[in-house]
Amino acid sequence: MPRIAYVNGRYVAHAEASVHIEDRGYQFADGVYEVCEVARGYIVDMKRHLDRLDRSLRELSIAWPMNRAAMEIVIVEVIRRNRVKNGLVYLQVTRGVASRDFLFPADTKPSVVVTARKVDPAAAAKRVENGIKVITVPENRWDRVDIKSVGLLPNVLAKQKASEAGAQEAWFIDADGTVKEGGSSNAWIVTRDGALVTRPAEHGILRGITRTTLLDVAAKLGLRVEERGFTVAEAKAAREAFISSATTIAMPVVAIDGDPVANGHPGSVVLSLRQAFFDIAEKRPA
Ligand code: PDD
Repeated sequence: MPRIAYVNGRYVAHAEASVHIEDRGYQFADGVYEVCEVARGYIVDMKRHLDRLDRSLRELSIAWPMNRAAMEIVIVEVIRRNRVKNGLVYLQVTRGVASRDFLFPADTKPSVVVTARKVDPAAAAKRVENGIKVITVPENRWDRVDIKSVGLLPNVLAKQKASEAGAQEAWFIDADGTVKEGGSSNAWIVTRDGALVTRPAEHGILRGITRTTLLDVAAKLGLRVEERGFTVAEAKAAREAFISSATTIAMPVVAIDGDPVANGHPGSVVLSLRQAFFDIAEKRPA
């Protein structure tokens, strides 16, 4: 079955879908994006993802390419046309096409692309069973990583380095030695006395939607939460470590820079958070 993409008002064959060479997303990374999980035929936390898209667009003074209700219809339609029951939907908005100039163009329509793809839930389950390995890299990104911008070159380089080291994620480390977040995920630990620890999202990291919903899940499960920074040494000595994102939900971390976390096996807290996540997250039929 051919994949279908939505590009600037049209549903087109994915293989032929394209944007103009002078799209500002292509020339300046002048755009933002969202990734939502699709699980068991539902879009997970679409409201929170679109709220964050709205914030990202406002921070960069990019207009919505269509109204929000229309965007929701496009998202549902792309998922439907690609027959995705379990997978991801990707949505990107750029400042649009204009002759190359650093200044914002006047009267340029934002460009919008929506794609969806299937992900095999069995493969995800296998990754959870094994856990993942992370490496650490010095923070080298700009100060506005709270905006979900498509400018992801430091993340690309960090994740490539992780992959070459046999790991699946890279954690950016702040100058003070604390863990910021992963290349495409937020970072968490469970302390020896059972507290969930994750960095505050006011500054210096992306406020992950999965992170926000996991905080709801933790409250429901009666887990103690501490929103504070933690060091790499603390993470290695923790009872558990894990990452969160729309693509991984909550994924155990079993090694950091080659050293095991606890006994080197996935822990029970991350698995219970994962289990309860889908019950608590907002579910919109796709
Ligand atoms: N990335 N931090 C960064 C830098 C991210 O890129 C992401 C998500 C997250 C987690 O956010 P959320 O829970 O809303 O997915 C944190 C997506 C999945 C990506 O770029 O593919």
